[in-house]
Amino acid sequence: MHNGTSLTQFIIEQQRKIPGATGDFTSLLNDVVAACKTISHAVNRGDLIGVLGTAESENVQGEVQKKLDIISNEVFLKSMEWTGHLAAMASEEMDDIYPIPAQYPKGKYLLTFDPLDGSSNIDINMSVGTIFSILRAPEGVENPTEQDFLQPGTEQVAAGYALYGPSTMLVLTCGHGVNGFTLDQGVGEFILTHPDMRIPESTQEFAINMSNHRFWAEPVRRYVDECIAGEEGPRGKNFNMRWVAAMVGEVHRILTRGGIFMYPWDSRDPSKPGKLRLMYEANPMSMIVEAAGGMSITGTERILEIRPEGIHQRVPVILGSKEEVERVAQYHSEAAAAA
Ligand code: AHG
Ligand code: MN
Ligand code: MN
Repeated sequence: MHNGTSLTQFIIEQQRKIPGATGDFTSLLNDVVAACKTISHAVNRGDLIGVLGTAESENVQGEVQKKLDIISNEVFLKSMEWTGHLAAMASEEMDDIYPIPAQYPKGKYLLTFDPLDGSSNIDINMSVGTIFSILRAPEGVENPTEQDFLQPGTEQVAAGYALYGPSTMLVLTCGHGVNGFTLDQGVGEFILTHPDMRIPESTQEFAINMSNHRFWAEPVRRYVDECIAGEEGPRGKNFNMRWVAAMVGEVHRILTRGGIFMYPWDSRDPSKPGKLRLMYEANPMSMIVEAAGGMSITGTERILEIRPEGIHQRVPVILGSKEEVERVAQYHSEAAAAA
């Protein structure tokens, strides 16, 4: 039996530090956490309850949906729609925003989420996760439109992810500091196990899908080639590489032991500026990474400052330990200056 601080206790204690806080936000966070526990349970039971495999549908981005993508999306909608804290939701798995149904009270927050990140890992029993971001609905707006979601990441009130790995963890930031909690399955409570997570500034570990090497832009290729050259190369040290194929897993590793993660622009499909989605993946993860002392950029700009143009917008993502991300930024500016 673990008798540490529970996530519920942690967020209520945080709330007490904010004069005039109504408890609305605390309660919203608790509901998000409950939704993640439900998804965790379905992920754990896997094929016993027939949730593995592909559904016969595609999402708005033309990606084949897994059964668990749809189930997790549904869990979030059903867990959150009645609570009275939200004005609307948006998800990677839905074409349009999801307004709160008329029979329920509306709240002042907007929720965006990637219900199941790393879908290609489901059927092979590897780590997957959920990513979420909380925004404020613009003042006085009761029935938000897509436009109301298009706020830069700097406006996020909170962001977090659940990682369904060997243990289920929930990592959360409200802007100041990042805290990690582990699910005690026996009592169904998240317990604070990773207080104040900080990303080490230097690292010798990178994560990128190397099979796209020939499609990358020159600055990314230069950076990775220099890492691979190791002790004999310009960096004068050896690097290690990892690829979990679930951004939640990559970010979690980086929060734990440092590193750099890249899903950069590549020339496979020139109509796509990147693979990862700004509102459901890049913004919440950038908020977490920056709150833990790391950096997150597209190559040329800070992700959190991008003005979104659509809820499903994609962006290149380069994030992690400060010194390495700064170096990649520098390679981008050198390439731009040379051109
Ligand atoms: P999702 O399962 O939500 O579509 O996201 C998967 C993303 C991201 O989490 C991961 O880093 C990347 O796609 C993996 O892409 P590759 O299969 O191209 O390596
Ligand atoms: Mn994802
Ligand atoms: Mn997903």
